[in-house]
Amino acid sequence: MSTNAIVLLRNDHQEIRRQFKRFEQAGDNATAGKAKIVDKIIELLTVHTYLENEVMYPEVRRLLPELEDDVLESYEEHHVADVLVAELAGMEPDAERFDAKVTVLIENVTHHMDEEEQDWFPQVRAGLGRKQLKELAPG
Ligand SMILES: [Fe+2]
Ligand SMILES: [Fe+2]
Repeated sequence: MSTNAIVLLRNDHQEIRRQFKRFEQAGDNATAGKAKIVDKIIELLTVHTYLENEVMYPEVRRLLPELEDDVLESYEEHHVADVLVAELAGMEPDAERFDAKVTVLIENVTHHMDEEEQDWFPQVRAGLGRKQLKELAPG
């Protein structure tokens, strides 16, 4: 994993936040429009979560064992988002609980992305920097 990977993940976050804002700004009655935005959100989250679960998190866990607890917490946060996404995927957009469920998804994922950006990515960058320095000068 490179610093570039972190840049790519950050770009994903930006696009996800943009879609969240579009949903929040859509009117109460914009059911069809909001359904499309939610499809897009689900698509973005699915790709992003896959990359983190299968590539980034295992790599961080291997290289930086001191971040293990953060990795495990992140897997649980992804799991909560997956549950909400699965429920939304099977729900009619005019269902009474649709907007409320999307709002909770947005709150959860925003919290998670904030933590990754403010806490985790800097630690990964610093840790990998150290590790790479070590490899250059072993011992
Ligand atoms: Fe994540
Ligand atoms: Fe992320």
